[in-house]
Amino acid sequence: MGKNQVVDLRSDTVTKPTPDMRNAMVQAEVGDDVYGEDPTVNRLEEMAAEKLGMQAAILMPTGTMGNQTALHIHCRPGSEVIVEERSHISNYEMAAMAALSGLLAHPVCTDDGLMTAGQVRGAIRPDIYYLSRTALVALENTHNMAGGKVMPLERTREILNVAKEAGVPAHLDGARIFNAAQSLDITVKDAVSGFDSVMFCLSKGLGAPVGSILAGAKEFISEARRVRKMFGGGMRQAGIIAAAGIVALEVMVERIKNDHEAAQTLADGFSQIGGIEVPVKPETNIIMLSIKPSWFGEQVKKNPPENGDLAGAFVDHLRKAGVLSLAIDHEQVRMVTHYDLPDDGIERAVEAAIK
Ligand SMILES: Cc1ncc(COP(=O)(O)O)c(C=O)c1O
Repeated sequence: MGKNQVVDLRSDTVTKPTPDMRNAMVQAEVGDDVYGEDPTVNRLEEMAAEKLGMQAAILMPTGTMGNQTALHIHCRPGSEVIVEERSHISNYEMAAMAALSGLLAHPVCTDDGLMTAGQVRGAIRPDIYYLSRTALVALENTHNMAGGKVMPLERTREILNVAKEAGVPAHLDGARIFNAAQSLDITVKDAVSGFDSVMFCLSKGLGAPVGSILAGAKEFISEARRVRKMFGGGMRQAGIIAAAGIVALEVMVERIKNDHEAAQTLADGFSQIGGIEVPVKPETNIIMLSIKPSWFGEQVKKNPPENGDLAGAFVDHLRKAGVLSLAIDHEQVRMVTHYDLPDDGIERAVEAAIK
């Protein structure tokens, strides 16, 4: 890939379908999926359920719809969902849990994005008539805004036990569960075992253009088909997108370890640069940078911006060199590695921060 190609590290969602995916999309056998007649969708759903070790699965247009459908089924209006404070479900899904399902997020604060079993136990409401009910525990693995952090399997199991003891179901926002499983060196089946429902995305590091999967027990997925339709997500000849999802599962899972190595190389490069800190060692394909005022004088001979938005000014500087990244707040910048970067992308990203 050419030197002039933009190095787009904003997210793994920017990945474009591979030639194999495009080919599969052209060839896909299709039917009306609202009638359950799209053979390619049916195949993808069976494959996904089997990979996760769940009874059934359903193709969703987005991860958000997958998560929100699960919440809608698990919880009655007026109840609470326990989430980590920076979770995608409670911060980046347009308050959908309130708007669509009448639910309240019960955020748990952590330093590293990983709730403990003790914290979850403490957040579950006791059964007293004047308190709202805890309807669900929702975990996120990997944790996006905590820098792609992976929840150790032991911790997951402890939390699932606490939820089970309390009779509260557990949902996994596993948008990047294949990254988590790779990092833990376990199967995805093991990573999701014990959850009542799991959502994962085909459209992120796995490279498909559209689509996420929601999986769970047979009855749960039958209900999810109704809720997906109600949310406007009933699709017709969706085999066109499912075909790319099948390639994602067959071909792209194996290679995500390369993205993790690239993230480590990127983090090593940035941590050598004065005025940039890498506060969390990357475990998967996401890195967070912390931009200090000294970066401006030391590296690019500029004054830090008067409005204090160090991350915004850093992102602007890199953009001029053809490197795209995402400011999370005034100090933190997120970068995500993926297969669609130019060969010299990592080098160019680091160089852009010293010129
Ligand atoms: C952790 C996590 N969950 C859910 C989603 C939602 O996926 P979508 O953008 O397909 O709605 C994302 C998307 O970035 C995510 O990072």
